[in-house]
Amino acid sequence: MSNLPVFSTDGGQTLAYPLASGFTASRLGLGCMQFGGSWEAGVPISSGDRARARAALETVLELGWDFFDHADIYCRGKSEQLFGELIREMKVPRESIIVQDKCGIRFPGEPNGDEPHRFDFSREHIIASVDQSLKRLGMEYLDCLLLHRPDLLADPHEVMEAIASLHASGKVAYFGVSNFTPPLLDLYREAGFTPVANQIELNLLRTSLLDSSVVSQDRLPADGHPADGTLEWHRMRGVVTQAWAPMAYGYLSGREPDWDPERVGKTASLVKEIATKHEVAPEAVVIAWLLRHPAMIQPIIGTREPSRLRACHQALSIQLSREEWYALYLAGRGTPLP
Ligand SMILES: NC(=O)c1ccc[n+]([C@@H]2O[C@H](COP(=O)([O-])OP(=O)(O)OC[C@H]3O[C@@H](n4cnc5c(N)ncnc54)[C@H](OP(=O)(O)O)[C@@H]3O)[C@@H](O)[C@H]2O)c1
Repeated sequence: MSNLPVFSTDGGQTLAYPLASGFTASRLGLGCMQFGGSWEAGVPISSGDRARARAALETVLELGWDFFDHADIYCRGKSEQLFGELIREMKVPRESIIVQDKCGIRFPGEPNGDEPHRFDFSREHIIASVDQSLKRLGMEYLDCLLLHRPDLLADPHEVMEAIASLHASGKVAYFGVSNFTPPLLDLYREAGFTPVANQIELNLLRTSLLDSSVVSQDRLPADGHPADGTLEWHRMRGVVTQAWAPMAYGYLSGREPDWDPERVGKTASLVKEIATKHEVAPEAVVIAWLLRHPAMIQPIIGTREPSRLRACHQALSIQLSREEWYALYLAGRGTPLP
């Protein structure tokens, strides 16, 4: 009898988080990183950015997406602020959406001028960050909080104290991490914390977390990454893999490549060819490639353009064959398989 957790789905449209009982989300999530427009301090939200964010929200709600990804740092808090305003303006019931936020990255100069860019999982910072995020969002609680990037100085027991306090106060329902490697996941698990999700960068042009599972004795994965095993760790324990930058920043669906043009160009051509065959937009193939992986990946899509959001949504209506999936993988990783 297998002990592997089961990722249940509802016809591919939704994803039940195995480690969070009753927590079901749309298979595709909207990343709200750019909602606030400018990342510069002191630059207000423009009417154009407000309109773009509203159009994105209206589009995904109509498509049935209910999952929204934030971080305290996105556009220096303006993304959370605008999202909260729009949700109220559009009269979207709070309980009908899932709001995920992140904490732990601190900008240089915050709060004092000479302080460096750093990561901070201290109890005080985690709790203060959530309080400020809730204030900007104008909400009472977060559905999920992710620890954004591993703090090298963190004490997992202290992190656990912060988590327990935020949970007990009703401010956060579930907890996850982002950009965590298997050794770190093990470390936190020893302290009693298994995240419901780990959000990592994964797309057709950033395949190193897959490449790490394709080592042969004499060969390192494509970009020289050491064996990693993140996706296997997730699968064994029921941790949802959230993919950030799932559209590969648009480079495979119309954006002119400004790096590695040969590899990007070849992959984009193949994406287009497969999209034509399935009668969908290229964005759908880029997202469907993630959905085809057995880790039950939840792409966190960052475009604000309604037409691109609809194009991504088409991914739910196709399934790539093994041959299509591997052809795309080979093109994207840019080196042959062993
Ligand atoms: N955990 C982490 O460390 C981390 C890091 C980064 C991001 N994230 C999350 O992941 C989400 C998605 O990441 P992402 O936005 O960086 O990557 P993405 O979803 O791969 O790409 C979206 C970006 O690409 C642009 N784009 C898409 N198609 C395009 C085209 N044909 N031409 C020109 N531009 C195009 C979009 O601009 P338009 O809006 O104009 O379409 C948008 O800026 C974020 O919103 C955030 O929630 C998490």
